[in-house]
Amino acid sequence: MKNSYIIANWKMNPNTLREAGNLVAGIAKNIRIIKNATVVIAPPSIYLYPLQNKVGKKIKLAAQDCHFESDGAHTGELSPRMLKNAGVAYVILGHSEQRTAGETSAEVNEKIKAVLKVGLIPIVCIGETKRDTEHQYLSFLETQVKETFSGIPLASFSKIFIAYEPLWAIGVEANREATPEESIEMVIFIKRVLADMYTTKVAESIRFLYGGSVHPENAHLFLIHGGVHGLLVGRDSLNLKKFTKIIEITNGLN
Ligand code: PGA
Repeated sequence: MKNSYIIANWKMNPNTLREAGNLVAGIAKNIRIIKNATVVIAPPSIYLYPLQNKVGKKIKLAAQDCHFESDGAHTGELSPRMLKNAGVAYVILGHSEQRTAGETSAEVNEKIKAVLKVGLIPIVCIGETKRDTEHQYLSFLETQVKETFSGIPLASFSKIFIAYEPLWAIGVEANREATPEESIEMVIFIKRVLADMYTTKVAESIRFLYGGSVHPENAHLFLIHGGVHGLLVGRDSLNLKKFTKIIEITNGLN
Protein backbone atom coordinates (compact mmCIF):
# COMPACT_ATOMS: atom_id res chain seq x y z
CA MET A 1 0.00 0.00 0.00
CA LYS A 2 1.22 3.46 -0.93
CA ASN A 3 1.05 6.38 1.47
CA SER A 4 0.44 9.95 0.32
CA TYR A 5 0.78 13.22 2.19
CA ILE A 6 -1.88 15.87 2.43
CA ILE A 7 -0.57 19.08 3.95
CA ALA A 8 -2.93 21.87 5.02
CA ASN A 9 -1.48 25.37 4.88
CA TRP A 10 -3.93 27.51 6.85
CA LYS A 11 -1.85 30.67 6.33
CA MET A 12 -3.22 33.52 8.53
CA ASN A 13 -6.53 31.78 9.28
CA PRO A 14 -8.80 31.30 11.19
CA ASN A 15 -9.16 34.25 13.54
CA THR A 16 -10.05 32.37 16.72
CA LEU A 17 -8.65 29.37 18.56
CA ARG A 18 -12.17 28.04 18.86
CA GLU A 19 -12.55 27.89 15.06
CA ALA A 20 -9.10 26.30 14.71
CA GLY A 21 -9.96 23.70 17.38
CA ASN A 22 -13.30 22.89 15.77
CA LEU A 23 -11.71 22.43 12.36
CA VAL A 24 -8.99 20.13 13.67
CA ALA A 25 -11.51 18.14 15.72
CA GLY A 26 -13.73 17.81 12.65
CA ILE A 27 -10.88 16.59 10.46
CA ALA A 28 -9.69 14.15 13.15
CA LYS A 29 -13.20 12.72 13.43
CA ASN A 30 -13.69 12.43 9.67
CA ILE A 31 -10.41 10.64 9.02
CA ARG A 32 -10.64 7.99 11.76
CA ILE A 33 -10.70 5.17 9.24
CA ILE A 34 -8.16 6.66 6.82
CA LYS A 35 -5.12 4.40 6.52
CA ASN A 36 -3.14 5.42 3.43
CA ALA A 37 -2.75 9.15 3.82
CA THR A 38 -0.65 11.17 6.25
CA VAL A 39 -2.41 14.39 7.18
CA VAL A 40 -0.36 17.39 8.28
CA ILE A 41 -1.85 20.70 9.39
CA ALA A 42 0.08 23.98 9.47
CA PRO A 43 -1.96 26.44 11.55
CA PRO A 44 -0.79 29.89 12.64
CA SER A 45 1.93 29.22 15.23
CA ILE A 46 -0.08 30.76 18.10
CA TYR A 47 -2.41 27.73 17.87
CA LEU A 48 0.29 25.03 17.90
CA TYR A 49 0.40 24.37 21.65
CA PRO A 50 -3.38 24.34 22.23
CA LEU A 51 -3.97 22.17 19.16
CA GLN A 52 -1.58 19.49 20.40
CA ASN A 53 -4.43 18.02 22.47
CA LYS A 54 -6.89 18.04 19.59
CA VAL A 55 -4.94 16.45 16.74
CA GLY A 56 -5.05 12.85 17.95
CA LYS A 57 -2.84 10.18 16.38
CA LYS A 58 -3.78 10.68 12.74
CA ILE A 59 -2.84 14.35 12.30
CA LYS A 60 0.66 15.83 12.52
CA LEU A 61 1.35 19.51 13.12
CA ALA A 62 3.49 21.78 10.98
CA ALA A 63 4.73 25.34 11.37
CA GLN A 64 4.49 27.79 8.47
CA ASP A 65 8.02 29.14 8.89
CA CYS A 66 10.84 29.50 11.42
CA HIS A 67 14.13 31.31 12.00
CA PHE A 68 17.47 29.66 11.24
CA GLU A 69 19.16 30.72 14.47
CA SER A 70 18.64 28.64 17.60
CA ASP A 71 18.10 31.64 19.92
CA GLY A 72 19.01 35.29 20.39
CA ALA A 73 17.90 38.78 19.45
CA HIS A 74 15.35 38.01 16.70
CA THR A 75 12.15 39.83 17.57
CA GLY A 76 9.01 38.14 16.37
CA GLU A 77 10.75 34.92 15.34
CA LEU A 78 10.50 31.27 16.43
CA SER A 79 13.39 28.81 16.52
CA PRO A 80 13.19 25.26 15.18
CA ARG A 81 13.70 23.93 18.72
CA MET A 82 10.74 25.95 20.05
CA LEU A 83 8.58 24.43 17.34
CA LYS A 84 9.79 20.95 18.13
CA ASN A 85 8.97 21.52 21.80
CA ALA A 86 5.47 22.64 20.76
CA GLY A 87 4.83 19.22 19.18
CA VAL A 88 5.57 20.19 15.60
CA ALA A 89 6.91 17.55 13.18
CA TYR A 90 7.12 19.51 9.90
CA VAL A 91 7.99 23.09 8.90
CA ILE A 92 6.93 24.79 5.66
CA LEU A 93 9.87 26.82 4.35
CA GLY A 94 10.26 29.27 1.47
CA HIS A 95 6.55 29.64 0.80
CA SER A 96 5.98 32.01 -2.11
CA GLU A 97 4.20 34.48 0.16
CA GLN A 98 7.38 34.66 2.30
CA ARG A 99 9.62 34.86 -0.76
CA THR A 100 7.46 37.65 -2.21
CA ALA A 101 7.84 39.50 1.11
CA GLY A 102 11.62 39.41 0.64
CA GLU A 103 12.86 36.03 1.85
CA THR A 104 15.85 34.90 -0.23
CA SER A 105 16.78 31.37 -1.29
CA ALA A 106 19.95 31.74 0.80
CA GLU A 107 17.78 32.29 3.88
CA VAL A 108 15.59 29.33 3.02
CA ASN A 109 18.78 27.27 2.69
CA GLU A 110 19.87 28.25 6.23
CA LYS A 111 16.43 27.40 7.53
CA ILE A 112 16.44 23.93 5.92
CA LYS A 113 19.75 23.14 7.61
CA ALA A 114 18.53 24.46 11.00
CA VAL A 115 15.28 22.50 10.81
CA LEU A 116 17.05 19.26 9.86
CA LYS A 117 19.48 19.73 12.77
CA VAL A 118 16.70 19.44 15.36
CA GLY A 119 15.00 16.54 13.56
CA LEU A 120 12.09 18.40 11.99
CA ILE A 121 10.97 17.68 8.43
CA PRO A 122 11.24 20.60 6.00
CA ILE A 123 8.54 21.12 3.37
CA VAL A 124 10.37 23.40 0.98
CA CYS A 125 8.35 25.43 -1.53
CA ILE A 126 9.75 26.02 -5.00
CA GLY A 127 8.06 27.69 -7.92
CA GLU A 128 8.30 30.24 -10.67
CA THR A 129 6.39 33.52 -10.57
CA LYS A 130 5.24 33.38 -14.17
CA ARG A 131 5.44 31.33 -17.36
CA ASP A 132 6.88 32.81 -20.53
CA THR A 133 7.05 31.38 -24.03
CA GLU A 134 10.87 31.72 -24.14
CA HIS A 135 11.12 29.30 -21.17
CA GLN A 136 12.98 31.81 -18.99
CA TYR A 137 11.09 30.32 -16.06
CA LEU A 138 13.25 27.21 -16.30
CA SER A 139 16.44 29.13 -15.58
CA PHE A 140 14.64 31.04 -12.82
CA LEU A 141 13.66 27.73 -11.24
CA GLU A 142 17.11 26.22 -11.73
CA THR A 143 18.72 29.15 -9.87
CA GLN A 144 16.12 28.91 -7.12
CA VAL A 145 16.72 25.17 -6.67
CA LYS A 146 20.53 25.55 -6.70
CA GLU A 147 20.51 28.34 -4.11
CA THR A 148 17.86 26.76 -1.92
CA PHE A 149 19.48 23.31 -1.73
CA SER A 150 23.20 24.07 -1.73
CA GLY A 151 25.32 22.25 0.83
CA ILE A 152 22.60 20.05 2.29
CA PRO A 153 23.96 16.77 3.70
CA LEU A 154 23.26 13.99 1.17
CA ALA A 155 21.58 11.70 3.69
CA SER A 156 19.09 14.43 4.62
CA PHE A 157 17.38 14.55 1.24
CA SER A 158 15.27 11.50 2.01
CA LYS A 159 13.66 13.53 4.83
CA ILE A 160 12.95 16.61 2.70
CA PHE A 161 9.70 17.36 0.91
CA ILE A 162 9.77 19.70 -2.06
CA ALA A 163 6.46 21.37 -2.84
CA TYR A 164 6.28 22.56 -6.43
CA GLU A 165 4.00 25.59 -6.21
CA PRO A 166 3.84 27.78 -9.32
CA LEU A 167 2.91 31.26 -8.09
CA TRP A 168 0.62 31.91 -11.02
CA ALA A 169 -1.59 29.01 -9.92
CA ILE A 170 -1.87 29.91 -6.20
CA GLY A 171 -4.76 31.57 -4.40
CA VAL A 172 -7.80 33.56 -5.47
CA GLU A 173 -5.67 35.70 -7.80
CA ALA A 174 -4.42 32.68 -9.78
CA ASN A 175 -4.22 33.21 -13.56
CA ARG A 176 -5.32 29.63 -14.10
CA GLU A 177 -4.88 26.19 -12.58
CA ALA A 178 -1.72 24.26 -13.39
CA THR A 179 -2.14 20.92 -15.11
CA PRO A 180 -0.83 17.57 -13.80
CA GLU A 181 1.42 17.47 -16.90
CA GLU A 182 2.98 20.79 -15.88
CA SER A 183 3.49 19.39 -12.39
CA ILE A 184 5.29 16.22 -13.53
CA GLU A 185 7.42 18.15 -16.00
CA MET A 186 8.63 20.47 -13.27
CA VAL A 187 9.18 17.62 -10.80
CA ILE A 188 11.41 15.95 -13.41
CA PHE A 189 13.18 19.25 -14.08
CA ILE A 190 13.84 19.89 -10.36
CA LYS A 191 15.09 16.30 -9.96
CA ARG A 192 17.49 16.81 -12.88
CA VAL A 193 18.90 19.98 -11.34
CA LEU A 194 19.39 18.15 -8.03
CA ALA A 195 20.89 15.10 -9.77
CA ASP A 196 23.46 17.42 -11.39
CA MET A 197 24.20 19.08 -8.04
CA TYR A 198 24.36 15.80 -6.12
CA THR A 199 23.53 12.35 -7.49
CA THR A 200 20.57 10.68 -9.20
CA LYS A 201 20.06 8.61 -6.07
CA VAL A 202 19.78 11.76 -3.95
CA ALA A 203 17.31 13.32 -6.40
CA GLU A 204 15.21 10.15 -6.41
CA SER A 205 15.10 10.01 -2.61
CA ILE A 206 13.17 13.29 -2.31
CA ARG A 207 9.41 13.34 -1.87
CA PHE A 208 7.49 15.84 -3.98
CA LEU A 209 4.21 17.63 -3.40
CA TYR A 210 2.10 19.75 -5.69
CA GLY A 211 0.45 22.94 -4.40
CA GLY A 212 -1.63 25.71 -5.96
CA SER A 213 -5.44 25.71 -6.22
CA VAL A 214 -5.81 22.06 -5.22
CA HIS A 215 -9.49 21.14 -4.70
CA PRO A 216 -11.56 17.94 -4.53
CA GLU A 217 -12.08 17.87 -8.31
CA ASN A 218 -8.40 18.04 -9.32
CA ALA A 219 -6.67 16.31 -6.35
CA HIS A 220 -6.74 12.83 -7.90
CA LEU A 221 -5.36 14.14 -11.21
CA PHE A 222 -2.26 15.58 -9.55
CA LEU A 223 -1.80 12.45 -7.45
CA ILE A 224 -2.11 10.09 -10.42
CA HIS A 225 -0.43 12.12 -13.18
CA GLY A 226 1.49 14.90 -11.38
CA GLY A 227 4.56 12.90 -10.35
CA VAL A 228 4.06 13.73 -6.68
CA HIS A 229 3.70 11.96 -3.33
CA GLY A 230 1.09 14.36 -2.01
CA LEU A 231 -0.54 17.78 -2.05
CA LEU A 232 -0.13 21.11 -0.30
CA VAL A 233 -3.59 22.61 0.09
CA GLY A 234 -4.30 26.27 0.90
CA ARG A 235 -7.88 27.61 0.71
CA ASP A 236 -9.65 24.26 0.61
CA SER A 237 -7.85 23.06 3.75
CA LEU A 238 -9.99 25.55 5.73
CA ASN A 239 -13.20 23.97 4.48
CA LEU A 240 -13.95 20.82 6.49
CA LYS A 241 -16.07 19.20 3.79
CA LYS A 242 -13.67 19.88 0.93
CA PHE A 243 -10.52 19.00 2.90
CA THR A 244 -12.08 15.74 4.11
CA LYS A 245 -13.00 14.92 0.52
CA ILE A 246 -9.41 15.52 -0.66
CA ILE A 247 -8.13 13.17 2.06
CA GLU A 248 -10.72 10.51 1.23
CA ILE A 249 -9.85 10.69 -2.48
CA THR A 250 -6.16 10.33 -1.66
CA ASN A 251 -6.78 7.40 0.66
CA GLY A 252 -8.89 5.69 -1.99
CA LEU A 253 -6.13 5.91 -4.59
CA ASN A 254 -3.54 4.16 -2.44
P1 PGA B 1 -4.16 27.64 -2.55
O1 PGA B 1 -2.78 27.89 -1.77
O2 PGA B 1 -4.48 26.18 -2.42
O3 PGA B 1 -5.16 28.51 -1.84
O4 PGA B 1 -3.95 28.05 -3.99
C1 PGA B 1 -1.73 26.99 -1.84
C2 PGA B 1 -0.51 27.51 -1.13
O5 PGA B 1 -0.24 28.72 -1.17
O6 PGA B 1 0.23 26.73 -0.48
